[in-house]
Amino acid sequence: MTKRIAVIGAGPSGLAQLRAFQSAAQKGADIPEVVCFEKQSNWGGLWNYTWRTGVDENGEPVHGSMYRYLWSNGPKEGLEFADYSFEEHFGKQIASYPPRAVLFDYIEGRVLKANVRDWIRFSTVVRWVDYDAEAGDFEVTVHDMATDRVYTECFDNVIVASGHFSSPNVPEYPGFDRFNGRIVHAHDFRDAREFQGKDVLLMGSSYSAEDIGSQCWKYGAKSITTCYRSAPMGFDWPHNWEEKGGFERVEGKTAYFSDGTTKDIDAIILCTGYRHYFPFLPDDLRLKTANRLATADLYKGVAYVHNPALFYLGMQDQWFTFNMFDAQAWWVRDVILGRIAIPEDKQVLMADVAEREAREEASDDTKYAINYQADYIKELIAETDYPSFDVDGASKAFFEWKKHKAQDIMGFRNNSYVSVMTGTMAPVHHTPWKDALDDSLEVYLQN
Ligand SMILES: Cc1cc2nc3c(=O)[nH]c(=O)nc-3n(C[C@H](O)[C@H](O)[C@H](O)COP(=O)(O)OP(=O)(O)OC[C@H]3O[C@@H](n4cnc5c(N)ncnc54)[C@H](O)[C@@H]3O)c2cc1C
Ligand SMILES: NC(=O)c1ccc[n+]([C@@H]2O[C@H](COP(=O)([O-])OP(=O)(O)OC[C@H]3O[C@@H](n4cnc5c(N)ncnc54)[C@H](OP(=O)(O)O)[C@@H]3O)[C@@H](O)[C@H]2O)c1
Repeated sequence: MTKRIAVIGAGPSGLAQLRAFQSAAQKGADIPEVVCFEKQSNWGGLWNYTWRTGVDENGEPVHGSMYRYLWSNGPKEGLEFADYSFEEHFGKQIASYPPRAVLFDYIEGRVLKANVRDWIRFSTVVRWVDYDAEAGDFEVTVHDMATDRVYTECFDNVIVASGHFSSPNVPEYPGFDRFNGRIVHAHDFRDAREFQGKDVLLMGSSYSAEDIGSQCWKYGAKSITTCYRSAPMGFDWPHNWEEKGGFERVEGKTAYFSDGTTKDIDAIILCTGYRHYFPFLPDDLRLKTANRLATADLYKGVAYVHNPALFYLGMQDQWFTFNMFDAQAWWVRDVILGRIAIPEDKQVLMADVAEREAREEASDDTKYAINYQADYIKELIAETDYPSFDVDGASKAFFEWKKHKAQDIMGFRNNSYVSVMTGTMAPVHHTPWKDALDDSLEVYLQN
């Protein structure tokens, strides 16, 4: 095969794409040349922890949004690879909420086994992508930071796997410019010990607010205050955690809320989410979407309706992660290998997007949303040779997880679930999450 494929990013999505092609080659398929460009010096995407904030060693925006002491916020039984189980990787079943380093090790294990590291050009930032309609190919311009060289190569397909939880959404509120303390977005939060003994305010009512607040609480903050714009998180919080309504302004160190109350605070952490941001794509190729389950303009959630030679992976809001990226990567691979045909009529592609949007909007219920994404995975894997697995069983782990969070927000990570890949029950972790201050891989695996 003479085709050339560019993959942008070597995080879980991009690595799923490399593994998908390698698995076809292993079964005897003729595969294209696959070149993956990764701006960091290692793979793993967000799971590749960096202490840096702001700009990286090359002056590029730091990609990492993960922090020290981050543990999976959902059960690992919901994200397990169908072709590479936790038991295969670790030689035993492990507890259900692994810390970041453990999940990094797992992600890396599969691609080390697949031997695809040579397909990746590290420390190489994609600067610009253009489509040449006459030639029917893409020109990809990159900057190799190691040799400080900018060059352009042509590809038949481009697969964007650059993630969408890196470019922070940073609102400004009255008084921020005169606040006598630190204001930081979740993207730049790293070590909760910085806030030991402090009164911390977190803005937002989603996963970052919940988890960064929990980190600060666990590592000794004096008090946690969270404030919401639309709806409270509503958990049964510890005694030194209170949830307030809308944030209005800050004067000196005093925060004012819409319910008329105030709170003196030392630091503000903006857990206000992220933006889909693709500075390397022109208008006609750039995905513009909200963070939702049915992304705009993506046929089957991956093929760009305005140019279906261009694909995006992992652009959805995520209940499922690693195995959803796999389902997408296997499907995209099979389009490129000519095993699956994308309809030529653009109206058909747009109707597919509209149907997905309408179905997502039919309910606000969380269970419905989880089932919706599970159905999406089932739909894609039914069309490829990705190992079939009990997706509904994985959804059940998510339903249990929701229940466990409602029961005990600081204790839900002490629960265990059954792997749908191997049928094994995870062991109960040796230390309750709130007391497990050392979250290194060595300590976590001591079960
Ligand atoms: C704080 C936080 C915690 C999370 N916790 C969990 C969790 O517990 N469980 C879970 O399943 N998911 C979690 N997620 C979701 C996370 O999005 C996925 O797990 C996963 O990392 C997404 O993979 P990705 O490859 O799509 O994107 P990313 O992991 O973001 O990887 C994208 C890659 O593209 C590279 N890149 C970007 N731009 C360029 C460019 N111009 N040129 C070259 N390379 C580029 C980046 O360097 C990066 O390596 C979390 C997300 C955040 C923000
Ligand atoms: N341990 C972990 O595994 C972990 C930890 C953290 C994050 N994550 C992941 O990271 C991803 C992103 O989560 P996230 O919580 O950062 O983002 P998010 O889910 O998009 O939530 C953003 C929050 O910010 C609020 N907000 C946005 N703009 C605002 C404004 N101008 N003023 C006030 N509030 C505003 C939103 O309120 P509205 O509801 O009003 O829009 C919402 O509550 C998720 O996939 C999550 O699973 C995982």
